[in-house]
Amino acid sequence: MVERAITAAVDVRSHAWAPYSTFKVGAAVITASGALHVGCNVENASYGLTQCAERAAITAATAAGQRDVTCCVVVTDTEEPTTPCGACRQVLAEANPDMLVICRTVAGAERRYSLRDLLPDAFLSFSRS
Ligand code: THU
Repeated sequence: MVERAITAAVDVRSHAWAPYSTFKVGAAVITASGALHVGCNVENASYGLTQCAERAAITAATAAGQRDVTCCVVVTDTEEPTTPCGACRQVLAEANPDMLVICRTVAGAERRYSLRDLLPDAFLSFSRS
């Protein structure tokens, strides 16, 4: 399943709309039911409207009625794996603060984290489960 998610994140990265930063990101989330949902970053000439790949993947999972995310794969074309930005960590945490986060480069370098370590003491007080 993780291998499929990595392939999906690599593939969806090619659809990223990043003409301003040229930094393309692909993401894939795995749900408890074994479903896969993908997202890529979508930039805009009004820069602040940019949506990150991880949040796009969570949006896709949510639209499919699946919030029970067990793993998020993030793929970038960098020397070292890229970890999710702070905003994405917060959004991922509301799906599952204990999910596995796999950060990969296109070349295959990989680091794995528990989201709990990337965002300790997340703000979840107001969120429904
Ligand atoms: N980006 C992501 O897609 N995910 C992150 O976690 C960090 C940044 C995107 C946003 C923007 O399109 C580009 O990377 C450069 O910041």
